[in-house]
Amino acid sequence: MKTQVAIIGAGPAGLLLGQLLHRAGIDNVIVERQTPEYVLGRIRAGVLEQGMVDLLREAGVGERMDAEGLVHDGFELALDGRLEHINLKALTGGKTVMVYGQTEVTRDLMAARDACGAKSIYQADQVQPHDMKSDSPYITFEKDGESYRLDCDYIAGCDGFHGISRQSIPAEVLTEFERVYPFGWLGLLADTPPVHDELIYARHERGFALCSMRSSTRTRYYVQVPATEKVEDWSDERFWDELRSRLPAEQAAKLVTGPSLEKSIAPLRSFVVEPMQYGKLFLLGDAAHIVPPTGAKGLNLAASDVNTLYRILVKVYQEGRTELLEKYSEICLRRIWKAERFSWWMTSMLHDFPENDAFTKRMQQTELEYFVGSEAGRKTIAENYVGLPYEEIK
Ligand code: APR
Ligand code: PHB
Repeated sequence: MKTQVAIIGAGPAGLLLGQLLHRAGIDNVIVERQTPEYVLGRIRAGVLEQGMVDLLREAGVGERMDAEGLVHDGFELALDGRLEHINLKALTGGKTVMVYGQTEVTRDLMAARDACGAKSIYQADQVQPHDMKSDSPYITFEKDGESYRLDCDYIAGCDGFHGISRQSIPAEVLTEFERVYPFGWLGLLADTPPVHDELIYARHERGFALCSMRSSTRTRYYVQVPATEKVEDWSDERFWDELRSRLPAEQAAKLVTGPSLEKSIAPLRSFVVEPMQYGKLFLLGDAAHIVPPTGAKGLNLAASDVNTLYRILVKVYQEGRTELLEKYSEICLRRIWKAERFSWWMTSMLHDFPENDAFTKRMQQTELEYFVGSEAGRKTIAENYVGLPYEEIK
């Protein structure tokens, strides 16, 4: 088999890259380890920056998002029982975010790929990139007991944090930066009306809580739990009681509860690998970086990597600008580190860190109070939350 771009992984990064390349006339094949149903079964993030919304539209998959997604002009910070509104639209000169689940984005991208007939190979085992430093890289994999080879010009490693792409790069050329937080998020999905019309990020002495949503009838709520916690120990009732105890009285009283559709614990981690390329292999999305979910940046960073590689590859194939390929990693990393900083900062401000002493706790409270009490501080939060601009590829 032969293609121009071999894409490893059919998460949002791989599917969006594949769709954009296909529309630009660049042939690509996606090779994914799991089944489509498995990929769609993972409940992940739900807030899209304007840049990602525009990129999905450009990829021709914006129709359902525009019809069903919820445009949010702001969000709430709940601090010590009171709500502080962050008016994104007013603070950023008109920018907003779109609440639309990653599962739905993935479903739309899969449907578009099926409709255009681009090749996807699911349930591929032992995927392995080869000869990335040569002019003729390729990947091998097994499917239904047969071995296959896919020759290509470039390999896009979109296979998430545990994927094979990053692991295929010699360790001595990579530098990894990591912080693991001593807590996770216990998330619950339910068919209940949202407690509020915007998201609420709550700081509380019992720990952080987040009220998010997928639609006007489906909610996604989270509570901070110790990293050692087991989901089996959390009945729905215990979850709802804990969430209620961390919300301001008015929202706690209004909270509508119901049976969980899904419940899981996600660890919190900050991670970046440098560089994000090795010869003809490029890393995108979770394969190269992880953020704690507090700033809603994970999915959006995957989209900005896709934007960068896509625009570079179009210039390479249409104008012969191969020198741009060398710039992929540095362009991505400039934006990634800023989103890492924001995600780390939001996490640090809003969570209860068991190791913090009394002085550090006061500093944490005061820093957030200072930011929300100042126009400049609110603007800083807002411009990061709606997403920093994508760098132009010249
Ligand atoms: N071979 C083939 N496919 C693989 C392999 C492998 N060795 N390892 C992993 N994969 C697949 C996974 O099954 C998954 O479908 O790669 C895909 C990676 O998808 P995601 O983990 O969703 O990563 P990405 O596309 O970068 O999306 C960014 O944003 O909300 C955040 O972390 C969240 O998933 C999210 C991400
Ligand atoms: C979600 O809806 O799952 C969600 C929203 C905002 C976040 C993180 C997760 O910051």
